[in-house]
Amino acid sequence: MGESAFDTSDIIIVAVVTVATGLFLWWRSSSGSASDANSNKGTQPASRDELSAKEGTFSGRQSKKTITGTLETLQTEHKLLLFYGSQTGTAEDLATRTANEVYANFGVESAVCDLEDFDFSDLLTFSAETDAKVVIGFFLATYGEGEPTDNAADFYEWFMDGRGKGEDDDIEDIGDDIQNEKQGTGINYLVFGLGNKTYEHYQSMGRRVARRFEAIGAKRIGPLGEGDDDGSMEDDYLAWKPKALEALSAFYGVKDMGGKANRGIPHVPLFNLSAESSLPDKSVFHGELSGDHKPRRFKDGPGGDDKRQFVEVSAKKRILYDAKNPLFSRVIASRNLFSETYDEIKVSSTDIVPSPPKHFTATGSSIKVLRHCIHMEFDLSNTGLRYESGDHVGIYGANSVEHVTALAQALGLSTGALDEMPFPNPCSVRTAFTHYLAITSPIKQHQLELMAKYATSEVEKEVIYSLVDDRTLYIEKIETPQKNLAEILKDFPSVKLPLQVVLGELLHPIVVRYYSISSSSKKEPQTVSITAVAVRYALPQKSLMQNDSAPAHISYKEGLVTSYVNRLHEGTSGLPTPSADAEGVYSSPALPTHVPIFIRTSSFRLPRDCAAPIIMIGPGTGVAPFRAFLHERVHIAAAGTSKKPVGSTWLFYGCRRTEEDHLYKDEIGTLLNTVESWKSSTDETEKAKAFDLRVMNAFSRVPGQPKVYVQDLVSKMGKEVYDVLDKQRGYSDVSVLLHKLGQEYGGRSEEEAKKWVKNLKTTGKYHEDVW
Ligand SMILES: Cc1cc2nc3c(=O)[nH]c(=O)nc-3n(C[C@H](O)[C@H](O)[C@H](O)COP(=O)(O)OP(=O)(O)OC[C@H]3O[C@@H](n4cnc5c(N)ncnc54)[C@H](O)[C@@H]3O)c2cc1C
Ligand SMILES: Cc1cc2nc3c(=O)[nH]c(=O)nc-3n(C[C@H](O)[C@H](O)[C@H](O)COP(=O)(O)O)c2cc1C
Repeated sequence: MGESAFDTSDIIIVAVVTVATGLFLWWRSSSGSASDANSNKGTQPASRDELSAKEGTFSGRQSKKTITGTLETLQTEHKLLLFYGSQTGTAEDLATRTANEVYANFGVESAVCDLEDFDFSDLLTFSAETDAKVVIGFFLATYGEGEPTDNAADFYEWFMDGRGKGEDDDIEDIGDDIQNEKQGTGINYLVFGLGNKTYEHYQSMGRRVARRFEAIGAKRIGPLGEGDDDGSMEDDYLAWKPKALEALSAFYGVKDMGGKANRGIPHVPLFNLSAESSLPDKSVFHGELSGDHKPRRFKDGPGGDDKRQFVEVSAKKRILYDAKNPLFSRVIASRNLFSETYDEIKVSSTDIVPSPPKHFTATGSSIKVLRHCIHMEFDLSNTGLRYESGDHVGIYGANSVEHVTALAQALGLSTGALDEMPFPNPCSVRTAFTHYLAITSPIKQHQLELMAKYATSEVEKEVIYSLVDDRTLYIEKIETPQKNLAEILKDFPSVKLPLQVVLGELLHPIVVRYYSISSSSKKEPQTVSITAVAVRYALPQKSLMQNDSAPAHISYKEGLVTSYVNRLHEGTSGLPTPSADAEGVYSSPALPTHVPIFIRTSSFRLPRDCAAPIIMIGPGTGVAPFRAFLHERVHIAAAGTSKKPVGSTWLFYGCRRTEEDHLYKDEIGTLLNTVESWKSSTDETEKAKAFDLRVMNAFSRVPGQPKVYVQDLVSKMGKEVYDVLDKQRGYSDVSVLLHKLGQEYGGRSEEEAKKWVKNLKTTGKYHEDVW
């Protein structure tokens, strides 16, 4: 699924409150009725029935959409369907941007479609005659060992018909055996793959799907795009896009009206705001992420509408919680795992250093940034939601009050207008800014282009267009200093953006962040925990309207989700925390500190056989899943129910200094002591529980001592590590040095060592959890 909280059509239904009247506003298309909202838009109908589809996700999926049905909803003669296979929203974002540009430049309507919502069987019935004006595009991210995203899995399985799985990267073979079938001769397609060159199976999805289309006789109408996250996804997309647009324009035989020629034409907002009064409070969104009109976290409490109760569903009833339908899980515990410790950022003596916010201190030419690593636990009880140790949890964050206020001020909104009461329609501006829109992300060039349309000063307009046209200048002035909308608006006071443009077109939705689960599902099935390091930094920013010699201002930055997690931890989330009465009824309709989460299954698992030895290597928060594994192995041993003794369990763990950031030091110490007590016990039953549990620590910043990293420790114990992996059929969880060990202790050549490691991977003995 595109794991953004809201797709474009969802945003249409975001409602806002008028500034002065206290009436309620909701999105309407320029032509009037809510039902034909978006009809003048590039990204349209895929989601016309999105709401009902999402309604279905609560207790079961609705039936899938068809390609033919979706094409029928597009009003223009030429049509474009853009499918995305996306885990963290990038592919979805690029598909949406492409659709918008195709509409703006060619007047061709598109549908941006989530692969998992579709039944593709009618794709192979496309005919060159009737579907000559249709192009189908795919934006496909690759994950894991060259695998599809979750939302692309069914499509991929069906389309590839069992070919090109996992390690099998021999894309030349895909579909060669069906050369004669040519079922796809009526299909015109485009592919843009998203990947990261550091992964072994780079771009598997885009390449394999394109290869398969070719094999079934489909016609690719533009270049195969490949975006590399390790370099710059944006640069790669921007290099591909003009070629793709040119190919589309040639294919449709329409003139490209885009580009600079278009700049003199005023922007017509895609949505209007209109006022509505007295909608029932129950139908107002307070940060829920599912797309229907009913906040389903609540049911009416015994007190009536103003008393609400969390809907808790019996554990027997399985509900599909996923990126589109996250569980609002109660935070049940949190603690900071670091002692008071700081990072230091040097600033230039000419930089203007504003008074720092909480967690930052400024002294002379340096800024100290307080480090936090939060262990947070979420409640899964009575939800039916399950996980396995090694899985990931997806978390949606929320923006801080400070950021929401800063943006409101930059837009010239009175802060009172953010939450004029009540909000009986979808949501307030505050809710949209807090829960739905990525207001702190740096603004991209296409967003600047839209902003330029609203600049009344010609000088400002010129500066904005220079940033749109010159990528190097843009990177220097906006991307590197990470300037967000509020910061840019300060530099361009003549830019007066209509609120509906900000909400509906300019800002991107908040996307989910993943965390490796640090709790053991065997030991704590009702709790899921994360170990998250707060992202904090400070960057010098210069005004975009001043010359280069002007001093820079320091801007204090924090990661969206980790700062939210930290605010939850400190009890300063800014979100109301209503207390429940004896019957579990919450007296406030607003969101308490329940966090939207879901579980993403991972292949990063403990071996099924608890007797198999494991070697875990993880610096910093990389220890998160290993905390779960350590607890699980001790838990299994303590239960004494396993027929075999628990296998060797070794952890190589690295941090800066034991006094600073030694994660779970006490807890791990207790586990080691427990195992030691079993070893020395005189009771035979207790003694039988003992196993080879070892934790090797590497410290990289002990004053006066050489820096030691995990790889140094693994090298030092190279022979033992090699023997566990090779002779004892052990499992390892990181690739560090394995090739080297294979050569040094296995007497293999470089090539043979590579094969040995590959074999460890294909036999499931070696796993990576990378972020
Ligand atoms: C499978 C998986 C598992 C993960 N597990 C964990 C885990 O267990 N624990 C954990 O802490 N994280 C984990 N992560 C990372 C996590 O998902 C988030 O990316 C991370 O917490 C930051 O999220 P955020 O919303 O706070 O920051 P964001 O708002 O996303 O900000 C991060 C961005 O800020 C910018 N940035 C950061 N530092 C600087 C700097 N010094 N200068 C300039 N720009 C900077 C970068 O552009 C960076 O991409 C995992 C990721 C994946 C994919
Ligand atoms: C856990 C993880 C695994 C990944 N595996 C691969 C891979 O095997 N091959 C590849 O080319 N890219 C891989 N990538 C990179 C993603 O495809 C890339 O970041 C992409 O932009 C994500 O798109 P999305 O935001 O739409 O999900 C991986 C990224 C992550 C976070």
